[in-house]
Amino acid sequence: MADFLVLNGPNLNRLGSRETSVYGSQSLADINTRLQTVAGELGHGIDFFQSNAEHALIERLHQAADQDVDCLIFNPAAFTHTSIALRDAVLAGELAMIEVHLSNPASREAFRHRSYFSDIAIGTICGLGAFGYECALLAADKRFG
Ligand code: DQA
Repeated sequence: MADFLVLNGPNLNRLGSRETSVYGSQSLADINTRLQTVAGELGHGIDFFQSNAEHALIERLHQAADQDVDCLIFNPAAFTHTSIALRDAVLAGELAMIEVHLSNPASREAFRHRSYFSDIAIGTICGLGAFGYECALLAADKRFG
């Protein structure tokens, strides 16, 4: 059994109503419910945290390190493109992570092309919508299960 943490950054609490043509119609609660089911079937522990505040995400990453979380499934949202502080928190905690994006940032505005996480992630899943989180969970199961 492994322990996973699904971490979501700013504005992802608005999924389901936010730019549905880009991000789809499922709410974050829908996504997390599905992940909880799949993790249960695989026999893993899973926890969920979303915040719009960078400092709250940093605190949760510190906690994850103290709890020896096996793998993060992390969509840093807009902080993907800006946050050295979140990157440093992942590195400081020696946390394994899979980066997830609902959309494909590479096919969007130039400012979304740089990620502060892709080079420190096990892998990045993007452009598959909500299913990307499930893919990340299955990948984490393969590696840490
Ligand atoms: C996102 C992509 C980011 O560029 C954007 O700022 C988000 C969501 C995604 O899941 O596609 O908020 O991370």
